[in-house]
Amino acid sequence: MISADMELLPLLFLSFCFLTLSGLTFAAESGTPVVVKEDDDAILPCFFDTNVENIELMKFDWKKEGTDPRKQVFMYDRGAHHNNGLSDQDDQFKGRVSHFPEKLTDGNASIRINNTRLKDKGNYTCFFPNSKKTFLVELVVGAADPSVTILGHTNNGAQLKCDVKGAYPRPTVEWQDSKNQTIPSEDQTLKRGEDFYVTLKTTVRKTDYYHCVATQKEIHHRSHTKIYVYLNGARSGTGKITATVLSVMIGIFATV
Ligand SMILES: *[C@@H]1O[C@H](CO)[C@@H](O)[C@H](O)[C@H]1NC(C)=O
Ligand SMILES: *[C@@H]1O[C@H](CO)[C@@H](O)[C@H](O)[C@H]1NC(C)=O
Ligand SMILES: *[C@@H]1O[C@H](CO)[C@@H](O)[C@H](O)[C@H]1NC(C)=O
Ligand SMILES: *[C@@H]1O[C@H](CO)[C@@H](O)[C@H](O)[C@H]1NC(C)=O
Repeated sequence: MISADMELLPLLFLSFCFLTLSGLTFAAESGTPVVVKEDDDAILPCFFDTNVENIELMKFDWKKEGTDPRKQVFMYDRGAHHNNGLSDQDDQFKGRVSHFPEKLTDGNASIRINNTRLKDKGNYTCFFPNSKKTFLVELVVGAADPSVTILGHTNNGAQLKCDVKGAYPRPTVEWQDSKNQTIPSEDQTLKRGEDFYVTLKTTVRKTDYYHCVATQKEIHHRSHTKIYVYLNGARSGTGKITATVLSVMIGIFATV
């Protein structure tokens, strides 16, 4: 039985800062990065004002830093947008970006990018030309998400494997027991392109919960997958091993 409950904790803090774009300085609200796994959808937040303000009849323009400044990630202009006829959307984003029409009356100009690719990572700006407000959001694609399997049993235990695929930046990966003690394991890390693939094997000898923990400090990301291993008189190869993968949790931890 495998169940996967995923949970992204809300952003933990918001900070107020100034950023300089093309020589102009705008006030911008920025927060912790949006962190997703490759292929997941990402919601990039952008909010016009803390006071509720209807933006249905306004314009907002999402761009990605470091790409052709004439091309947009997504533009909304008084009801017209890239999914209903506006041109000049960057090919990289065609058919993958949408906004939240029902949220416009709240001043919410957030967008959703479907099926994120590693290439999508970077800094995005959400610009309101009428008020010259710009918001900056960093998107990180490559959150580590460990998956665990039982390779088999040995004379007196079970061999477990943890895989973390396509992670960036490089994660630290550990096997821990139910007391959060790190247990010795054999680690193999491969790098493909910019991404890291980590395989961690360990042998356990008693019935317990074990979890594989992947941490990416730079992006305040930690996730773990827990497995329950029941060892029933596992000796001389006659024993039975029952194991249940209990949960996958993805969290963002703050290091303030
Ligand atoms: C992205 O995915 C969501 C949910 O699956 C869907 O409602 C939305 O229309 C998709 N956006 C685009 C641009 O295809
Ligand atoms: C804006 O809308 C998005 C999508 O529904 C939501 O995730 C986000 O929390 C909203 N932002 C605010 C500040 O309400
Ligand atoms: C995004 O901007 C922040 C702060 O301006 C910077 O530290 C970071 O390196 C940028 N990220 C990318 C991918 O360019
Ligand atoms: C182990 O660590 C997790 C978070 O990483 C924590 O929630 C849990 O309480 C810890 N358990 C023990 C026994 O310290």
